[in-house]
Amino acid sequence: MTSRIALVTGATQGLGTALVAGLAQRLAPTDIVYLTGRDAARVGTVVADLPVTSAEVRGEVLDVSDPGSVTRLAEEISDRHGGVDIVINNAVMRVGPEDDPRAVVQEYTEVNNFGTTRVMRAFTPLLRDGGRLLVVASSLGTLTFLAPVLHSRFDDLTSLDAVDAATAAWRDQVRDGSARSGAWPGFVNIPSKIAQVAAVRALAAERRDGDAERGILLASVCPGMMNTPTSALWWDVSDAPTPDQAAGPLLSLALDPIKPEHYGELVRDGAVLPWRPPS
Ligand SMILES: NC(=O)c1ccc[n+]([C@@H]2O[C@H](COP(=O)([O-])OP(=O)(O)OC[C@H]3O[C@@H](n4cnc5c(N)ncnc54)[C@H](OP(=O)(O)O)[C@@H]3O)[C@@H](O)[C@H]2O)c1
Repeated sequence: MTSRIALVTGATQGLGTALVAGLAQRLAPTDIVYLTGRDAARVGTVVADLPVTSAEVRGEVLDVSDPGSVTRLAEEISDRHGGVDIVINNAVMRVGPEDDPRAVVQEYTEVNNFGTTRVMRAFTPLLRDGGRLLVVASSLGTLTFLAPVLHSRFDDLTSLDAVDAATAAWRDQVRDGSARSGAWPGFVNIPSKIAQVAAVRALAAERRDGDAERGILLASVCPGMMNTPTSALWWDVSDAPTPDQAAGPLLSLALDPIKPEHYGELVRDGAVLPWRPPS
């Protein structure tokens, strides 16, 4: 039987490490899980510190903000294995309440949004039959959290190029300060997560029929509030689930039989979150 190949981005801490550990526990000894991150030393340390797993875990540098890094690793995985079975796009740039959105939005979108669409463009064509590509987003990633006057920016987009253009337009408004006087939320996480969910919806619109025939799942997924240093900058998360606990429903989406109603949607704990607010 062919080995199953899985890959997680931003896996040097938090949810990403938990997802790698969970995949490696549940996959078979002949399978391989790529633990990827932007820093070679951190990747090596985290791989070495993982508990004993069933599947093999291999570390690789993957900086999602660097187009060359993404295409290089996709080519290497294609050459080594001929395809991939599970891709989880999880990487996020950490920002805190003290950060000025105008100063951070360029790098923030480069990692969280253009990094996401880069990973989707590079790895979706490698998905084997039955494969999954999951984008870790948030329950804030729906139009419910955007002023109605802005819904058309991200609604019904049908290509990743269109999503990137909408993201760039928002980023430019944050950068030049005009977003502050408009209807955009001040918390950059909200439009960024909406754009991630819009990207999954756009790619799903393009690929739906072919993916249904081949049993492939594209979905965005909400892990819920977790106790990680990133969320601790904003909220008291001392009672929130650990990344290991939050990883459970995501691992189910990655490994259990696919439910057709999840295709292209934002899923939390196995249920689809509505993209648009109730009318
Ligand atoms: N925490 C929550 O409560 C919560 C709630 C809803 C959704 N989420 C989502 O869940 C995901 C994981 O969140 P988390 O709290 O586990 O985050 P985290 O602990 O801050 O981990 C983020 C990971 O992304 C990596 N990263 C940053 N820039 C990167 C780049 N350019 N290329 C590749 N990797 C990069 C970091 O690497 P370094 O180790 O090198 O910094 C780290 O491994 C994110 O998508 C987040 O938005 C989180």
